[in-house]
Amino acid sequence: MTKALAGVRILDFTHVQSGPTCTQLLAWFGADVIKVERSGEGDATRGQLRDIPNVDSLYFTMLNHNKRSITLNTKTAGGREVLDALIRHCDVLVENFAPGALDRMGVTWEHIQKTNPRMILASVKGFGPGPYEDCKVYENVAQCAGGAASTTGWEDGLPMVTGAQIGDSGTGLHLALGIVTALYQRSQTGRGQKVLAPMQDAVLNLCRVKLRDQQRLERTHTLHEYPQYPDGKFGDAVPRSGNASGGGQPGSILKCKGWETDPNAYIYFITQAAVWPAICTVIGEPEWIEDEAYATPQARLLHLKPIFRRIEQWTMTKDKIEAMDILNKLDIPCGPILSMKELAHDPSLRASGAVVEVDHPTRGKYLTVGNPIKLSDSPTEVTRSPLLGEHTDEVLTQLGYAAGDIERLRSQGVL
Ligand code: COA
Repeated sequence: MTKALAGVRILDFTHVQSGPTCTQLLAWFGADVIKVERSGEGDATRGQLRDIPNVDSLYFTMLNHNKRSITLNTKTAGGREVLDALIRHCDVLVENFAPGALDRMGVTWEHIQKTNPRMILASVKGFGPGPYEDCKVYENVAQCAGGAASTTGWEDGLPMVTGAQIGDSGTGLHLALGIVTALYQRSQTGRGQKVLAPMQDAVLNLCRVKLRDQQRLERTHTLHEYPQYPDGKFGDAVPRSGNASGGGQPGSILKCKGWETDPNAYIYFITQAAVWPAICTVIGEPEWIEDEAYATPQARLLHLKPIFRRIEQWTMTKDKIEAMDILNKLDIPCGPILSMKELAHDPSLRASGAVVEVDHPTRGKYLTVGNPIKLSDSPTEVTRSPLLGEHTDEVLTQLGYAAGDIERLRSQGVL
């Protein structure tokens, strides 16, 4: 079966996490991704957070599957020549260098357009145009600058970053969509274009419900579904709301059997209005179905804390999976708090390909996340990440370099 992006060639200048997540997705959809790295060290993540000496880290392997790797020093004359050959050969150049680094390399947009007018230049930067456009940015900086940290955590606690890498992987996803969209437009216009995904904008996009709430707060000075309501005070900015659902259906994290010793013995419980009678029945409060204080969603907003305390008395009598089984049969939306250990060993995730085992020549077998986007006509097979420079000769031969030229470039320190 052919792959959705078969024939698309990606010149991959990405490093660390944000850019590599994007090009890994493109590779999973069948694009030929040629990762360009400096010889010796390569992508810095190869050597970061290592669990086995002198072996590519999981940080690197889990972001660079299905790619080819070449080494190239783009700051040499020979390296610039090879780079131009790659620009002519490829459809998309993807990069997440610090602002200005690509220009300093001599790879300006004008140069790219002159060399290959069909090329798409796709970039992740920390910020879009404005006061911070020249700043270097990592994950948590983006979470803080994009509104995630100020709205995450407890009302009386510090701003908090989340474990989900919404700044890096979140922006990589946005960039991948930008690239396939630009490829589609190119099929009509024949022209390449620049695609930019600023990390601040991507995080803000993922936090759009909080921008919604900011405007509601400015108009009405209160947010009825937040835990600050009805007893606490609201300021002039959206507060942190703990584990409140953030939507129109109130929810909370509740203790389950074993919570005293197991840090993940909890369940997320949503009091969806449509199933309120079933909730009252299962927790043993059938009279709440008709009781004026609880009968409507509006009335319940005044009593969310005691309602969740009562539901928790019930969830504490069940373990989280048992509670999930009972509640799902009643169509009550809920979710167990699953640890990474549970996810890593969940047979259904292995069967579905959400978690896959990959074999690596120097590391051996390890687990990684499969392609979370499933195309029925373009299934993904996750293959291992490349060793540093593993495909240099292969790619240069494809570009038309003879074996002798490759050896000469190597001896000049270009490769
Ligand atoms: N040959 C020669 N030089 C190379 C090269 C190659 N193959 N690959 C990279 N370089 C050079 C770059 O040209 C740059 O040189 P310069 O500073 O002289 O212009 C240098 O290596 C370092 O690149 P840079 O991107 O600045 O890396 P850094 O380690 O200083 O910064 C980040 C890392 C992530 C902070 C920065 O790249 C950044 O802000 N990126 C954009 C936002 C982003 O993606 N952040 C999330 C990362 S997960």
